[in-house]
Amino acid sequence: MAVREAPGAGCPTSYAALESLMRRRLGRECLYVPSCRLGLYVALRHWCPPGGRVLMSPVNDDVIMFVVLAAGLRPVQAPLNASDGSIDPAALPESHWRGLSAVLTTNLYGNPDPAPELRARCDALGIPLIEDAAHAIGGTVAGRAVGTFGDAAVFSLSKHVGAKTGGFVAVADPALVPELTAARDALLAPARLTAELAYALRPYAEAGVRGLRLARAARGLLRAVGAEERPGIRMELRPGELKEALAGGPGLGGFDSWVRVDMHRYRLTPGRARLRRTERLLSGLDPLLAAHRAGTERLLATRWAAPSSQGRPLFRVPLLVADRDAAVAALARHRITTGYLYDPPLDVYAGDLFTDASPRPGPAAWFARHALPADPLRARQVIAVLDESGAEPALPPGHGGD
Ligand SMILES: Cc1ncc(COP(=O)(O)O)c(C=O)c1O
Repeated sequence: MAVREAPGAGCPTSYAALESLMRRRLGRECLYVPSCRLGLYVALRHWCPPGGRVLMSPVNDDVIMFVVLAAGLRPVQAPLNASDGSIDPAALPESHWRGLSAVLTTNLYGNPDPAPELRARCDALGIPLIEDAAHAIGGTVAGRAVGTFGDAAVFSLSKHVGAKTGGFVAVADPALVPELTAARDALLAPARLTAELAYALRPYAEAGVRGLRLARAARGLLRAVGAEERPGIRMELRPGELKEALAGGPGLGGFDSWVRVDMHRYRLTPGRARLRRTERLLSGLDPLLAAHRAGTERLLATRWAAPSSQGRPLFRVPLLVADRDAAVAALARHRITTGYLYDPPLDVYAGDLFTDASPRPGPAAWFARHALPADPLRARQVIAVLDESGAEPALPPGHGGD
């Protein structure tokens, strides 16, 4: 039986330490959350009226679409730029802008969405801009940090920081912090010592699995017992159950089986071990970002980089390759795993019942099919494998590409 602590027991001081690290970095008030997805849910419930329509990117983690649905909102898929997967505001017809209740950016792979333009659009419409900066900690756009344009921005400490837990909601208006804190606390699940122990032991267990070269066998076993939740890139939609969840109205409970994918403890009150490790990792973020920056420059100098790439995607660099799946397989043969693939786009995956399709789906579909997210920390190896395997760059539509 799980041993339980009182929710939040012993945690507020450590929340404060993390929040002050992030506040110094961003210059905005920040609220700690056990996951970015929970932070996004808190923000959407606070800023968007139930039944509202939220513009979002279709090339995105499916979990995010389920968070939008759980918040009682209708996802509206945005047109994207084929070269880097960023939101293309100019391609959204005026009639679509007028029906929106909020805009949610993605900053895919750390490549910034056009936040200044989106901010101006939202101001003109009197709607909130919410920035998903899960991939974009340390990123800038127009000389300003990603996450400082929105009414709110959410961050994930599971990505760059590698904490496998935690995130922040950063807010423009500090007066909202008490209300958002109360909303977060009401959603937290009680801390569990067993979960904390598992978290503390996990790095050692993973090192052991790697050391024994059992990673592939362990994954096979997980698949065999049905514990793996993603049969492919996307999780199973289960439309019948999703319709029922929607009929039950907003709330995380009914949507839990979708929202928790890849992180079952997304609502868990963190214990001391979790917070201490997170603080240590967050304190080391700057040297890590410098290493990412160097790898990003190396990858952007290759023939697979989009020629028009302007932003600096520090989390992953989306190389554009003609046969993406063959490139993924070639990398896998060299023990390089490719994560963060988002194919097909969410409007194709979910269909009209659950989302409004993008008015211009072609560029997003093209990008999703060809983007190979390369880890900047493995830039040299990735480039060597792609060279050796003869991977060809994908030609953008209009330049002879499909
Ligand atoms: C774009 C994006 N936003 C948010 C999240 C959720 O982050 P977390 O796992 O910290 O909840 C993810 C997860 O991969 C993501 O890819």
